[in-house]
Amino acid sequence: MDKFLIKGPCKIRGDISISGSKNASLPILAATLLFNEPVIIKNLPRVKDINTMLNLLQSLGSKIILSKDKKTAKILNPKKMKTFASYSLVKTMRGSILVLGPLISKYHKSKTSLPGGCLIGARPVNYHLLALKKLGMKYELKDGYILAKSNGKLRGTVINFPKISVGATENSIIAACLAQGKTILKNCAIEPEIKDLSNFLNKAGAKIKWAGRTCQITGVKSLNKTEYSVMSDRIEAGTFCVAATLAKGNLKIKNLNPKIISTEINLLKKIGAKIKTNKNEIVIKGPNKIKSIKSIKTKEFPGIPTDLQAQLMVLMCKAVGKSTIIESIFENRFMHVAELQRLGAKIIIKNNTATVQGNTNFIGAELMSSDLRASVALVLAAIVSNGKTYINRIYHLDRGYENIENKLKKIGVKIKRIR
Ligand code: UD1
Repeated sequence: MDKFLIKGPCKIRGDISISGSKNASLPILAATLLFNEPVIIKNLPRVKDINTMLNLLQSLGSKIILSKDKKTAKILNPKKMKTFASYSLVKTMRGSILVLGPLISKYHKSKTSLPGGCLIGARPVNYHLLALKKLGMKYELKDGYILAKSNGKLRGTVINFPKISVGATENSIIAACLAQGKTILKNCAIEPEIKDLSNFLNKAGAKIKWAGRTCQITGVKSLNKTEYSVMSDRIEAGTFCVAATLAKGNLKIKNLNPKIISTEINLLKKIGAKIKTNKNEIVIKGPNKIKSIKSIKTKEFPGIPTDLQAQLMVLMCKAVGKSTIIESIFENRFMHVAELQRLGAKIIIKNNTATVQGNTNFIGAELMSSDLRASVALVLAAIVSNGKTYINRIYHLDRGYENIENKLKKIGVKIKRIR
């Protein structure tokens, strides 16, 4: 298994270009199952999760032609598709559940594996099932699979999500595009990736309108041939902004609309970062002294993203003074804490709150990655540690960060992949 060796502390300087968003690409790729016409998706990040989704689509019958750089996929669906999403593919990536909505909507049947839990929490799919059931899907759970069918087309209805869920909102939007009549989804997640999915579907002829957390979808007969470029990855951009703030860095972060991370930018300004934004770039300079923030709480968009919680915790370890970090989205997303403690962090966890004592002098150590965002937090900590840090199980990073070691090397991080 590959690991990283990072020799800290490192100086961070230079330009970085943000890749396409993994979390926007996944639902967009799943939604291509709705099409009879060819679809071209551009700006896909070259990460493992995208390969998994492309493999899943292929296993369902889609023909996929990738460009040389693998960032553009042309997808063609034959008339007859399979409707079986196997455990072996779904278990490796929870986002695979997003094929259920389009399969049931277009082919009126599906056998899709339940994704199972993961390290950051139980992550059930009950709201996906609840919404699709309201649209007319009948299902039973058997041997770890969702056996689903519908009596012909799904039918538009009103769905009020009991809890805000990114995945359940996406699955429902995709399913409702070809449903009969109007669907109104209330209490939706409004993450930019969901808006990107809507933009893609609308470009292909879907009728999706938004008003706050309410989404109205008027069903259409079919979707048209389309070409679409996926938005940039706001979590990757946020991670590099944290890196610059943490390491007294000076970075120009290109290829991202700063407006979609304005909450994060405002937080980093409070911490002391000097930030200038242009239309499609961010120039960020880290402070000499990082100010602590009394309380940081993760929230659904437009709040502080849970996918940036681990990275912000590293920042608070280096801040002057004490801070608390409250994780309000997932129940078990502090896997990075024990590893940060191995570097010298002083963090106490009580339920969903981490109390972080600042002024930490990280000393390099051997660490273990647990999930995608926890892993990148360990990389950030290693960048500002004294000495060598080995990070094991970096396959987690390969799932979601494109070309991470080369991007880090380019801005001055002494990083090496050991195979
Ligand atoms: C997506 C993102 C993930 C991000 C998360 C929250 C993708 C591929 N993944 O995950 O990176 O951390 O949003 O911003 O886009 N829940 C239920 N029942 C359900 C669905 C969700 O109880 O049917 C709970 C989850 O366990 C969690 C919370 O709702 O506690 C939010 O989950 P959700 O927004 O659905 O996250 P994902 O779509 O899985």
